[in-house]
Amino acid sequence: MQKTMLSMFENLEVPQTPPIWLMRQAGRYLPEYKEVRKQAGSFLNLCYTSELACEVTLQPIRKYQFDASILFADILLIPDALGQKVWFVEGEGPRLEPVKSPDSLTLDNVSSHMQPVYKTLSLLKQRLPEETTLIGFAGSPWTVATYMIAGQGTADQEPAHSLKQNDVSAFQALLDLIVEATIEYLAGQVAHGAEVLQLFDSWAGSLSGDDFDRFCIQPNKAVIDGLRLRGITTPIIGFPRGAKSRYVDFAIQTNVQGLSIDQDMSLTSVLEDLPDTIISQGNLDPLCLLDGGQQMFSKIDHILDVTKGRPHIFNLGHGITQLTPPHHVTDLVNCIRNREK
Ligand code: CP3
Repeated sequence: MQKTMLSMFENLEVPQTPPIWLMRQAGRYLPEYKEVRKQAGSFLNLCYTSELACEVTLQPIRKYQFDASILFADILLIPDALGQKVWFVEGEGPRLEPVKSPDSLTLDNVSSHMQPVYKTLSLLKQRLPEETTLIGFAGSPWTVATYMIAGQGTADQEPAHSLKQNDVSAFQALLDLIVEATIEYLAGQVAHGAEVLQLFDSWAGSLSGDDFDRFCIQPNKAVIDGLRLRGITTPIIGFPRGAKSRYVDFAIQTNVQGLSIDQDMSLTSVLEDLPDTIISQGNLDPLCLLDGGQQMFSKIDHILDVTKGRPHIFNLGHGITQLTPPHHVTDLVNCIRNREK
């Protein structure tokens, strides 16, 4: 059987029904995820135990027959691999021992550190249905740096902005190191079976003006150029969440093959300017999925209407929220697949 999503990237043909996957499709809204998560003890242990990480990656594929499967891991495995202390506090989120420069960090162990993740990909390669596209991913340098500098998630990424303001050379050196580590990591993911890659720049929206060019577009482009220099041709989806008027600019300048679009954007206006050689993705508000029912079906219809005739990957504008009833996901998939063509 054909991999719908991968072949869309290869020939830009528009399938009758768009391929579907959802950001955070493996996670706490699924009771079966919570079971395995308990067994693993810590979140990081789940990420690094290949059998368990493979199992939670497969859970939403078995349940919903999505067209693509995203590797179960986290964007904060990179700081961990660089030698920064990373842990997750139950019910709160990630914690890191904050850094202000790359001085205490090293690229030397990235490949060896990521072996368990590569093993997860190899297992997935064996166990996924053949029509399912396997997506690898990493955080984009700016977004990863915001956590490394603050030591946790922040509402406004103030600590990273402040380092950028006060010591731009240390800040740039840190970004450069993350770029190198990410190239190495994604090249390893491709070598172990990833067929498409996504770069998550979840905090792109807090960069504006020239900063958006320097610290969002440039580092994403550097990762992509680095992969292409290594001869890696794997399609790449960029996700500059919150980029507002810079979405299309981002897509063109970074040379991504796919653009993931958050729910705050008017899809119509992005698509007016997006070249039809770049595949669009996303835009459904995760809160529509949380609430389900008629309002969700109307929004789905709207996205399908607006994207008719162009290559589009059905997805949310950000990750599934924890309280989403799993049967709403069934309704979403059925609504898209059973719609009159
Ligand atoms: O199904 C998938 O999408 C694949 C797995 C995946 C996870 N995180 C699993 C996860 C992916 C692609 C990510 C990306 C990620 N991680 C991002 C970028 C996307 C986004 O959401 O903006 C970011 C910023 C992170 C960092 C991170 N990881 C935070 C801030 C948190 C805590 C918040 C939360 O939801 O708990 C995590 C934890 C995390 N990553 C969980 C999962 C399933 C929940 C942890 C748990 O099970 O205890």
